[in-house]
Amino acid sequence: MKNQGYPSHEFEGKPVIGICNTWSELTPCNAHFRDLAESVKRGVYEAGGFPLEFPVMSLGETLMKPTAMLFRNLVSMDVEESIRANPLDGVVLLCGCDKTTPALVMGACSVDIPTIVVSGGPMLTGKHKGKDIGTSDIWRFSEASRSGLMFQEELTVAEASMCRSQGHCAVMGTASTMASMVEALGLSLPDNAAIPAADSRRKVLAHLSGMRIVDMVKEDLKLSDILTREAFENAMIANAAIGGSTNFVIHLLAIAGRIGVDIKLSDFDQMTSKISLIANLQPSGKYFMEDLYYAGGIPAVLKELVDYLHLEAKTVNGKTIQENFKDAICYNREVIATVEEPFHPISGIITLTGNICEDGAVIKPSAASHELLKHEGPAFVFENIEDFRARIDDPDLDVDENTVLVLKNVGPKGYPGMPEVGNMGIPKKLLLKGVTDMVRISDGRMSGTGFGTVILHVSPEAAIGGTLGIIQTGDLIKLDVANRTLAVDLSDEEILQRKALLQNTYAIESRGYVHLYQKHVEQAHLGADFDFLKGKSGSEVTRDSH
Ligand code: FES
Repeated sequence: MKNQGYPSHEFEGKPVIGICNTWSELTPCNAHFRDLAESVKRGVYEAGGFPLEFPVMSLGETLMKPTAMLFRNLVSMDVEESIRANPLDGVVLLCGCDKTTPALVMGACSVDIPTIVVSGGPMLTGKHKGKDIGTSDIWRFSEASRSGLMFQEELTVAEASMCRSQGHCAVMGTASTMASMVEALGLSLPDNAAIPAADSRRKVLAHLSGMRIVDMVKEDLKLSDILTREAFENAMIANAAIGGSTNFVIHLLAIAGRIGVDIKLSDFDQMTSKISLIANLQPSGKYFMEDLYYAGGIPAVLKELVDYLHLEAKTVNGKTIQENFKDAICYNREVIATVEEPFHPISGIITLTGNICEDGAVIKPSAASHELLKHEGPAFVFENIEDFRARIDDPDLDVDENTVLVLKNVGPKGYPGMPEVGNMGIPKKLLLKGVTDMVRISDGRMSGTGFGTVILHVSPEAAIGGTLGIIQTGDLIKLDVANRTLAVDLSDEEILQRKALLQNTYAIESRGYVHLYQKHVEQAHLGADFDFLKGKSGSEVTRDSH
């Protein structure tokens, strides 16, 4: 350490705090993290610790191909090994864009030393032509552009209006869902989720987190002390109340798998069936993360949920979750409603089962069209994403508003990374007729900014022989969300006969990381982690060459 100019007294006898930084100019949502790290360092120094910042691979949703999710598990390995291999006593995780949060938390769980999360914060609300806009509008703009109602010039202006400050997507997309998740799990200081990135109070939170991690080391307050079954249930309840992203399911399952808490897909439905939507945030509602902060933030949301939460769950500041939210005040009932008068009675993630999805599938009812939650219609099948792109705008496509669009082979192994294509666009001929939603089914994921009556994460996926793979155009699909079922109207014999004729639809890459991914990734209902990464190895390095 001497070559960096540190006098010995700077670090001798002090807790060494790693600052795990996902800063990258290729991850625009995290591009301000050098500044944030400086605030953390000031806090660590003030509390008597010695901070050392280190980089890990960063994952930006907007630029990475084929999808940032392909690399979530890779980053988790980078984080785990970086923390274990270096002489760190505690770690601060700087997370922002969607996958950076679960990746860092997963990796840290497998080491399990004192850890605190600091999120980068959402962008300021976009302003365009007198209206508030955010990244959920991208989907509307995209459909308007495909139907000739919006031109590229206006799209470009809208894009700049939407992304006018540092930070991640300003709606309750996956990044804000993840920031809310860590707050509800107790892994961050209160208000972590909603303070805008550009607000100076974000730096204050980073500074205070830097101070707190030093005390956490002294108290030996580890991730496993906080991430109990009760903490996971609190996160599920909070996620339902805020209308969080469907990606929450996959990431929470993966985190639980690392820390060793047994969570099942069906738990998400069971824990949240009584929870209503009380946060009026896009894409389920009207407002933005900035509005949520001014209305009282996640603490004010949690206070509304007092009858449902495990109130004694411990958090990183050493207090219970109830102690953290008990003094919260809601300043705007337009943004945070009461449980007695919610914005929508149904919320959360509903788990479906049936012969299409023996191991489950998910739908986010708050982002769906109510009239489509019970629906029967003929399937129109796209065999893969290339097939979908080639035909979706065909004026002769044999579909109407009752058709159920089925997209196969976009699951974890079939399209490594399980891309966010589940909210596939409406066929152009129906867009021109004014159709804005249809039932859509796939084994892929959906962006947290997306919406529609979209059934996702069908498991087992088509590529490994799941029933989704044998559905043909014209088969009758039956969706009944109230009864949690999704089925194709075929006999068991017919399904078995068709499966016997199925060709293997995916090839394993011969080399590199994608080879490892396809060999070891688990199905969506298990969190899409690698089978060999489940659990933790602790922080000890048992063979030391020094
Ligand atoms: Fe990073 Fe949306 S692109 S959070």
